Amino acid sequence: MKVMVVGGGGREHAIIKKLKENKTIETIYALPGNGGIAKDAECVAIAATDLEKITAFAKENAVDYAVVAPDDPLVAGLVDELNAVGIPCFGPDKKAAIIEGSKVFSKDLMKKYKIPTAQYETFDNAEEALRYIETSEIPVVVKADGLALGKGVIIAQTREEARDAVKSIMEDKKFGKSGDKIVVEEFLTGPEVSVLSFTDGKKVVPMISSMDHKRAKDNDEGLNTGGMGTVAPNPYYTEEVAKECMETIFLPTIEAMNKEGRTFKGCLYFGLMLTEKGPKVIEYNCRFGDPETQVVLPLLDSDLLTIMQAVTKEELTEEMVQFSSKSAACVIMASDGYPASYEKGYEITIPEEVADNVYVAGAKLEDGKLLTSGGRVLGVTAVADDLKSALKEAYEMVDKVSFGNAYYRHDIGQRALKALED
Ligand code: AMP
Ligand code: GLY
Repeated sequence: MKVMVVGGGGREHAIIKKLKENKTIETIYALPGNGGIAKDAECVAIAATDLEKITAFAKENAVDYAVVAPDDPLVAGLVDELNAVGIPCFGPDKKAAIIEGSKVFSKDLMKKYKIPTAQYETFDNAEEALRYIETSEIPVVVKADGLALGKGVIIAQTREEARDAVKSIMEDKKFGKSGDKIVVEEFLTGPEVSVLSFTDGKKVVPMISSMDHKRAKDNDEGLNTGGMGTVAPNPYYTEEVAKECMETIFLPTIEAMNKEGRTFKGCLYFGLMLTEKGPKVIEYNCRFGDPETQVVLPLLDSDLLTIMQAVTKEELTEEMVQFSSKSAACVIMASDGYPASYEKGYEITIPEEVADNVYVAGAKLEDGKLLTSGGRVLGVTAVADDLKSALKEAYEMVDKVSFGNAYYRHDIGQRALKALED
């Protein structure tokens, strides 16, 4: 069997490593993959956003199954294109991917179907948004409607910051057309939980919960990033909370999408905040999270391809998705300066003894050498009986990996450990 994975980050590396456990797969193509993924898959230099070339490649190479991992090609409709030429896929079609592609859509969906989320207003006109902000509560959260490389959310601590956010998104078009509309919403507080789920539109089966660390620096300081580390499970996500989320958020969301004629099939990511008034949705993603995937999939005991194909065929069952009772921790090693400016081109050394636990994100191969080529360079994941041991092992492995200008947070998992002790 030939499987194609679209994307080229640490998340895709984790998906590929997990798929490789299935011995019916002879070939895995990664489009475009990266220098580290090249050890585990056949990398093909086609951008994840080049829908036409990807579809042509899949047809020419008789790909049996495709996994579309990143948001852009999903929102642009790659799954529809591949399905049209007869290639079954894991991932939502364009109509369903809008749940991440438009925040205005997802907020209106939640309002219509009474799914708990922050109070909000939407605007397609900067003047009205600016007028609204003059009387809104502060802090206030300003969000670009469309995809913005994870940078479209601004938490404004002052009215001035809120005004600047509206102006840069709607007037200066910092995120292009993604900023034609905005959502302005209530600022919520509470622990955050990421819950990735498999859904075939009939059943929704949550994966093990996780916790991301979005800020660049220790103690949650510094700029927002794509994620500097993750742990799973998330100690705040108790069985009781899980039950409440299933009843008030997960099932209602799947049903809402069905009612709207936008049946979601794939991995639906629920970004949740556990507020004093109960769990609320901060965001939906139409895909696996990065770097959540790097802690969630190593804990999956079941075969990933079997689950994915069951989702495609609408035959998903709870029994198919079994997780280990262990814990996992992933520490992201980045180029110093990320997410702002950083240098690249440094050689990366990954000793063989830790290679299995490394998920490469931003690296390229040049003359047989692995060189840094991005902000987030790689993630190191450890699985152990408890979180404390997983964190210890992950940091020990981090010490063994090296490259110029390497930077990582030292406090991944500390908040989770504290929650476990309390
Ligand atoms: P996103 O880019 O959508 O992942 O959002 C980035 C981060 O902004 C989230 O992980 C939250 O920490 C924060 N955030 C988003 N919306 C809100 C909100 N309404 N209240 C508080 N924090 C928020
Ligand atoms: N880690 C957050 C995301 O994948 O959007």
